[in-house]
Amino acid sequence: MQFRIEALDQHYGSSQVLRQVGLEIAPGECLAVLGRNGAGKTTLLKCVMGLIAPSAGRVLLDGADITGWSPNRRSRAGIAYVPQGREIFSELTVGENIEAAARAHGTYGTAAMEEAVSLFPVLAEMWKRPGGALSGGQQQQLAIARALVTRPRLLILDEPTEGIQPNIVAAIGEVLRALKGRLSILLVEQYLDFAIETADAFLILSRGAVVESGRAEAMSRAHLTRFIAV
Ligand SMILES: Nc1ncnc2c1ncn2[C@@H]1O[C@H](COP(=O)(O)OP(=O)(O)O)[C@@H](O)[C@H]1O
Ligand SMILES: [Mg+2]
Repeated sequence: MQFRIEALDQHYGSSQVLRQVGLEIAPGECLAVLGRNGAGKTTLLKCVMGLIAPSAGRVLLDGADITGWSPNRRSRAGIAYVPQGREIFSELTVGENIEAAARAHGTYGTAAMEEAVSLFPVLAEMWKRPGGALSGGQQQQLAIARALVTRPRLLILDEPTEGIQPNIVAAIGEVLRALKGRLSILLVEQYLDFAIETADAFLILSRGAVVESGRAEAMSRAHLTRFIAV
């Protein structure tokens, strides 16, 4: 899929949080968005998912202007969002979390559902446990699997490694790298090594504006570090 944002502005009341943000994700690639706390990263992702409406600018999916589309319609068009802090249903079992997403997207019992679950073996082991009983890392894996059940063409992840133990970070990284090519990824990440291992391109946000963007191979670790130190 071709995904593009043009000149996006966003305001919370009178304060402007995004300023003329533009970006493009090539089919099958991962774009990592870096920036300090409060730079506007989560706000940008919410605009992509349609959870908040930008005050100006356009969001384009395969050339179609989807700026006014509801989150539901975007979801059906192939955009899936894993929010910061995961937000799984902690009262429902792991299985129920997965099955609810699959039913909502007509993928219940299909290969898409089986495959999403099989990417994270811990989910089958914990199938009948409540989501809230999982560790933070396991909940993140559940949140990603639940997004993948919808068979997205664009997967959006907001700080998926935040507060997660290293072995699970590694497992999530492997899955994302394996998925590239089949889908595009928009990744917001503060953990630089993870971003470097995963991204094909970078975009740096500072105070709501794009201050730099480019191919991953053209950006050194030392250079990127400058933009995320808090
Ligand atoms: N719902 C909101 N209402 C008002 N201001 C907000 C709201 N959400 C975020 N902000 C402000 O917008 C700015 C960008 O926030 P956010 O997009 O969450 O940044 P990041 O994800 O890069 O840390 C911050 O200054 C934050 O305080
Ligand atoms: Mg954020």
